[in-house]
Amino acid sequence: MRFTVLTLFPELIEQGFSTSITGRAAEKGLLSLRCVNIRDYALDRYGHVDDYPYGGGAGMVMQAPPIYRAYEAAVGDGKKPRLIYVTPQGRVFDQKLATELAKEEELYILCGHYEGVDERILEEIATDRISIGDYVLTGGELPALVIMDAVSRMVPGVLSNEESGEDESFMNGLLEYPQYTRPEVFLDRPVPEILKSGHHANIARWRRNESLKRTKKVRPELLEQADLDKADRKFLSELEREEESENQ
Ligand code: ADE
Repeated sequence: MRFTVLTLFPELIEQGFSTSITGRAAEKGLLSLRCVNIRDYALDRYGHVDDYPYGGGAGMVMQAPPIYRAYEAAVGDGKKPRLIYVTPQGRVFDQKLATELAKEEELYILCGHYEGVDERILEEIATDRISIGDYVLTGGELPALVIMDAVSRMVPGVLSNEESGEDESFMNGLLEYPQYTRPEVFLDRPVPEILKSGHHANIARWRRNESLKRTKKVRPELLEQADLDKADRKFLSELEREEESENQ
């Protein structure tokens, strides 16, 4: 996967990307990052890239020409790339979209700042508009890193076989079960007995039930889309009955 990020803060993107798993994958050649500093393509020698909004209002708007020049320099005479503009006005990012984006060979991400970006450049170059959630950040760099991280770990080879859990939260539509490691007792809390039993089928059932319990408690809406079998439904209705009797 090749990432190209158009940004006013390339150091932030480079720092965030070069650490940990994504950094290691880049060293192995599985991922690459190229940052293009939009300010290098400013129209004046002072490096201005923003201006007052037409129609008035607070804040400044990023101008189209510097972004277009940065984009053209990056694309060269290649074909039109998939370009994500990160914005709270976009489609909300989730695991499904991360998995889909990971199939691309190349992704461009445009990070905005100030009060936004001239709509005309977005119409011209953005193929996708993506939000990382219903809150507003000061700029697009953190959302870009979030998207790059989630996409990178879905690229084959980036995670080791053991790491690339099919068990993971969201991959099966449920939240992940709790995990434990040594010591066996921590602050009087022992590890659940069943996890030490060596009985794989019982452990798998226990984990599945813990996933169901967690999901029902904090993200009940996920259960509507999840792939549930007879045993799952039975466990959930038992849970329901227990809750009802506790509430009485
Ligand atoms: N830019 C500012 N806030 C954002 C958000 N929530 N998602 C994506 N881009 C953003």
